[in-house]
Amino acid sequence: MDSRPIGVFDSGIGGLTVIGEIMKLLPDEELIYFGDTARVPYGSKSAETVTKFSRQIFNFLLSYNVKVIVIACSTASSNSYDSLQSEFDIPIIEVLSPGVEDAAHVTRNKIVGVIGTEATIRSGKYVKLLEERIPGVRAFAKACPLFVPLAEEGWTQNTVTRITAEIYLQELLDKEIDSLILGCTHYPLLVDCIRDVIGPVKIINAAESTARKLKAYLIKQDIQNKAHKLGGGHRFFVSDNTDKFRRICNLVMRQTYEAQKIDLEKYL
Ligand code: DGL
Repeated sequence: MDSRPIGVFDSGIGGLTVIGEIMKLLPDEELIYFGDTARVPYGSKSAETVTKFSRQIFNFLLSYNVKVIVIACSTASSNSYDSLQSEFDIPIIEVLSPGVEDAAHVTRNKIVGVIGTEATIRSGKYVKLLEERIPGVRAFAKACPLFVPLAEEGWTQNTVTRITAEIYLQELLDKEIDSLILGCTHYPLLVDCIRDVIGPVKIINAAESTARKLKAYLIKQDIQNKAHKLGGGHRFFVSDNTDKFRRICNLVMRQTYEAQKIDLEKYL
């Protein structure tokens, strides 16, 4: 038993898709969320910059005495996980391998698609993990950089989003993928448009997969919160624009959470 909170972060509001799944699976855990809304998107930035930002966020979350940190951002998971793991003495859950594990169970024809930000796809991590986990897999990755601003704008069911999805996803459909990993935590917000475009292709929501991995980890280590406070102590922080966060949070979580703005420069 460990009643300390769990730290979760993303470049913006995408990590709320992970938070939502964690709340469903682990209702007794207290969560500290940080969305780096001043510096989103991470997906167009270099690995060095994403790692520098992630390091500051780790230091911030550690100031809340968290017991584990969930990198609820595929861009930071693919570009910064190795550095963060070597620098910090705290258990870290990243979002890539849980989605890959689910893909291994779901695919029948072993042709798997993955979509993510430019930095995630450029890192080559998803394809590498898929090839390691699924012998003989043919993995096809596609960067979809316009999806993050569409999600941040709240354009979850919209003609522009649908047409954008058609343009991005056609080349994966041409490869005859039977499953598609949403390799960016913003993308589950656009799932209706994506599903319309890909039809019977199975969608793997890495946010859900990650929450399941977190639960399994807490049980294995016996560090669940058994205090049954039903998440009373969740706290949300952003680096800019608390009003916009509240609006999007309402849309994603169907519940209002107030966020506090903090200055990350203090957490070097
Ligand atoms: N939600 C993020 C991810 O999973 C990042 C999007 C971005 O900041 O570009 O990659």
